[in-house]
Amino acid sequence: MAKSRAQYACTNCGAVTSRWQGRCDSCGGWNTLQEEQAADAPKSMRTGKGRILELSALSGDSEPLERILTGIDELDRVTGGGFVPGSALLVGGDPGIGKSTLLIQAAATLARQGKRVVYVSGEEAIDQVRMRADRLALKDADVLLAAETNVEDILATLKSGPPTDLVIIDSIQTIWTDRAESAPGTVTQVRTSAQALIRYAKASGSTVVLVGHVTKDGQIAGPRVVEHMVDAVLYFEGDTGLQFRLLRAVKNRFGPAAEIGVFEMTGKGLAEVANPSDLFIGERDSSSPGTAIFAGMEGTRPLLVEVQALVAETSLGTPRRAVVGWDPSRLAMILAVLDARCGVRFGQFDVYLNVAGGLRLGEPAADLAVAAALISSRAGVATPAETVYFGEVSLSGAVRPVAQTAIRLREADKLGFARAVLPAGGNDEGQVTLSLDKIATLGDLVAAIAAETAGKASS
Ligand code: TYD
Ligand code: MG
Repeated sequence: MAKSRAQYACTNCGAVTSRWQGRCDSCGGWNTLQEEQAADAPKSMRTGKGRILELSALSGDSEPLERILTGIDELDRVTGGGFVPGSALLVGGDPGIGKSTLLIQAAATLARQGKRVVYVSGEEAIDQVRMRADRLALKDADVLLAAETNVEDILATLKSGPPTDLVIIDSIQTIWTDRAESAPGTVTQVRTSAQALIRYAKASGSTVVLVGHVTKDGQIAGPRVVEHMVDAVLYFEGDTGLQFRLLRAVKNRFGPAAEIGVFEMTGKGLAEVANPSDLFIGERDSSSPGTAIFAGMEGTRPLLVEVQALVAETSLGTPRRAVVGWDPSRLAMILAVLDARCGVRFGQFDVYLNVAGGLRLGEPAADLAVAAALISSRAGVATPAETVYFGEVSLSGAVRPVAQTAIRLREADKLGFARAVLPAGGNDEGQVTLSLDKIATLGDLVAAIAAETAGKASS
């Protein structure tokens, strides 16, 4: 018998090393390495012999993908137009964010369409799942439930029945296999169980959804080890203290990534938010200084968001910079550009920046809205009402055009905004009734807001 070797796998990213160390070289996580037994290579790999494969041409005919629409539009949008049969998805997110709620809702709508849906809960007893379904008024839906954690038993059950359209495994971290020696929840267990379930999806044509908890302390094997094995990775995010939740596609082999779906957690489960811009600019107080509306994009969808800044005289030697929902180094850059190119100084001021509603902005196009909010708070005058901002700011102080100008403008138009401040370089505005204020440099923005101050002073 081959001697089994010990190796160490990172519970966060799945990287394997031969010796233990305090910090994972691959992802930089501390104390995430866990001992496991290395599996021996399959026999064919050791002998070096293999089967001869038939190679195919790229131009061959393939059947078009037939997708399963759940009827929950926000979910269907994120999956790229419905679940693809034979594919595996990972739905990740913090505990308590609403993964089980969303999936039982999706399971129930599909079951009502006559699909065969199996929901395997490794965390909750059948009664708990039933209670939730009762609360969500989904009890009439014919979803097949199991409370089980052994992957061999789950697969044997699935294979013994008629073909299943959708299998939900909640959660992958609780599932274990007889074929790996380590304890449930370890990297080897999660990886081996996920592999078996994914193989089942490909072989049977069922869609398999794996739920994974994101843990910050690395105690349970992170779903990251599964990320590269599945066809699509959806992350459910949001502040548990806030009402709404974002479902974001971070990887999708069958559709666009970065697509988002917006939901609101209500007493009756997750409700779709059809017009998310309303949510993120909701209770806007346009008369107070320090806010600007950013006309942003999330995936292929426009989203207007309020950016808030507070610039206050500092009482500390080193002024504070605090950011929620944006990249702090990007804020430092905008402050430096305002200082160096426009003469707006922040050295004696604390700067706080917040993106409304707990949203995280990743687009450089938000630069101009951030700058507008900062200048407005610094000058103590509100940005003009009913105005949206977007554009990337370069280190030279130039305002650079960004993609999808027409879609951003159309959304602002639709929501009743009257004016847009945008980069001068672009020329794909489309048909809008907004008045367009094209600027070439950040200095132009500072001048416009200064003019506003002068107007206020003289009136
Ligand atoms: P859950 O789906 O269990 O989260 P996860 O599976 O991601 O861990 O959701 C848990 C939270 O959602 C819980 O704190 C209660 C809340 N919730 C509602 O507010 N309304 C509802 O109708 C349901 C079912 C849950
Ligand atoms: Mg759950």
